[in-house]
Amino acid sequence: MLSYRHAFHAGNHADILKHAVLSLLIDQLKQKDKPFCYLDTHSGGGCYDLTGEWANKKAEYLDGIARLWPQRDQWPALKSYIECVAALNNDDTLHYYPGSPEIARSLLREQDRLILMELHNNEIDILRQHMYRDPRVALHHRDGFEGLVALTPPTPRRGLALIDPPYELKEDYDRVVKTLAKAWRRWPVGIYAVWYPLLGEEADRSQHMLRECQKLGIPMLTAELSIQAQSPTWGMHGSGMAIFNPPWQFEQQLEKLLPELCSLLALTPQANWTIKSHNSEG
Ligand SMILES: C[S@@+](CC[C@H](N)C(=O)[O-])C[C@H]1O[C@@H](n2cnc3c(N)ncnc32)[C@H](O)[C@@H]1O
Repeated sequence: MLSYRHAFHAGNHADILKHAVLSLLIDQLKQKDKPFCYLDTHSGGGCYDLTGEWANKKAEYLDGIARLWPQRDQWPALKSYIECVAALNNDDTLHYYPGSPEIARSLLREQDRLILMELHNNEIDILRQHMYRDPRVALHHRDGFEGLVALTPPTPRRGLALIDPPYELKEDYDRVVKTLAKAWRRWPVGIYAVWYPLLGEEADRSQHMLRECQKLGIPMLTAELSIQAQSPTWGMHGSGMAIFNPPWQFEQQLEKLLPELCSLLALTPQANWTIKSHNSEG
């Protein structure tokens, strides 16, 4: 039974990190005219109403996109991402927030392709409505881990896969590693971006997952952003993106972005960021 609904969290600090990195990866792929494919294993609904009941239950977007929005003209590095949010909002008021499939769809070109997977019955319906008749999009109502392996290598062969599970099931951590291993064997030239939560000490499994990923021997870059201190127990204090086969000089791009995002999103002085390149087994 799937209980996670992204509408409760849309536009929060973790979405900012994930979607900023995603848009930069897509910008990189667009530097060549050659077509590419974007795969999303856990797509969600694709677009979220920030004035709706769910988004306002904990109003997480107030510590996320609502902080970036008033100063959006001062973030040239995030031009693509910000334009995508702006395209959904007619005036200064922030009403809608795009999910990863909508960000990719608005940035991809005519020659590019999107493969979107989602398992939840309601979320796939919402996604279908948003992606309505876009000929570049193939929608799959299926398990994204198993789907990524089955659908790679994609056509066209250049491209990027976002792996963004809810991690409500402990197995998700293990499934990320196993899926990455299998997909990479079939599609070694793909770029893979894995989002993961940074949780309190008792609950955190991210570092174990990263150590297992590192053993796969794929060039790997991690970017983590914490908006407050880690709790000794539960709670999400930050999140990370692990990028496998990162584009050339992507690390330098993140080195500029992360400190700025950290100042923007910090809730306490313990907020911090890290970027690590892991090029060999260890
Ligand atoms: C974190 S949300 C995705 C958010 C989206 N990637 C974004 O950035 O806007 C995770 C989604 O995965 C879906 N999901 C959970 N388990 C899944 C699975 N095994 N395969 C595909 N989708 C799954 C959930 O229904 C939920 O919509």
